[in-house]
Amino acid sequence: MRHKSVLLQECVRYLEIDPDGVYVDGTLGMGGHAEAVLERLTGGGMLVGIDRDERALTYAGERLARFGDRAKLVKGNFGDLGAILDSLGIEQVNGMLFDLGVSSPQLDDGSRGFSYMQDAPLDMRMDESASLTARDILNTMSEAELRSIFWRYGEERYAGRIAAAVVAAREQAPVETTGQFVQIIRQTMPAAVLREKQHPAKRCFQAVRIAVNDELGALERMLDTAPDRLKTGGRLLVISFHSLEDRIVKEAIRRRENGCTCPPDFPVCTCGFVKTLKSVTRKPVIPGGEELADNPRARSARLRIAEKV
Ligand SMILES: C[S@@+](CC[C@H](N)C(=O)[O-])C[C@H]1O[C@@H](n2cnc3c(N)ncnc32)[C@H](O)[C@@H]1O
Repeated sequence: MRHKSVLLQECVRYLEIDPDGVYVDGTLGMGGHAEAVLERLTGGGMLVGIDRDERALTYAGERLARFGDRAKLVKGNFGDLGAILDSLGIEQVNGMLFDLGVSSPQLDDGSRGFSYMQDAPLDMRMDESASLTARDILNTMSEAELRSIFWRYGEERYAGRIAAAVVAAREQAPVETTGQFVQIIRQTMPAAVLREKQHPAKRCFQAVRIAVNDELGALERMLDTAPDRLKTGGRLLVISFHSLEDRIVKEAIRRRENGCTCPPDFPVCTCGFVKTLKSVTRKPVIPGGEELADNPRARSARLRIAEKV
């Protein structure tokens, strides 16, 4: 169950790794990016690897064991970046990488409920010790809340119809499995949509997963903290996989690139935006043809890079 690290060469290049530097990989996963960074920390450098998934930490821990205490692995949410760095006594780092979303092993392990291709209990928690599951969301949220989740996080055209169908189904019996959820979605959609190339459940599964894991909340909290925890010249790299994430990253960088947004006649700044970042590339970096041929899951990846000024 190998996860092919997306945009690996590009990440290594844009991080401009200092062999003595301190780096954060906030989405350790199977440790592919982390390994490439650690291999270049030939001086006294170290890497802090964070993941909220215990299984990822176990796997990456074995893969990175040869680096000894130069690899410091932490179970946590990158939304708590500041507290995690504080707990390690680290004030600022030379670079940070966040490769958002789920890993291939999370998707491929049918039992975790991330995939619409395999029938499993509705779970979708990246952190299996967290309390909220996909089952809870589908069986306890109001129709309006479900509609909003499918629409906002999945950009699902049939959000209203699907929310109503979920509520109707659960009046008979709780919705327990991914297979049942797929069935509800299929029954709701017009035949023409079912013939489209994209799986009809893809958008709703993405939406529920984002809600279960509060993915956008964690991303926003991380982006609020990361610039302060970078040394001048240090780089922040974020790989996103859908437009919602990419928009949040792009906006966060833009705000810190432009500085204060208060009207010119304000006597004091109330927005609090200080010029702390500059974009390194004008457009996001995307995978080349060779990578796409080798790893179709890289298809929607977009890497944004900003530098602390
Ligand atoms: C796409 S994978 C990373 C793959 C990794 N870069 C590699 O090369 O193997 C994303 C990982 O980030 C973790 N993750 C996602 N959101 C997180 C968050 N808010 N805090 C900590 N880990 C998170 C997931 O559990 C998953 O293991």
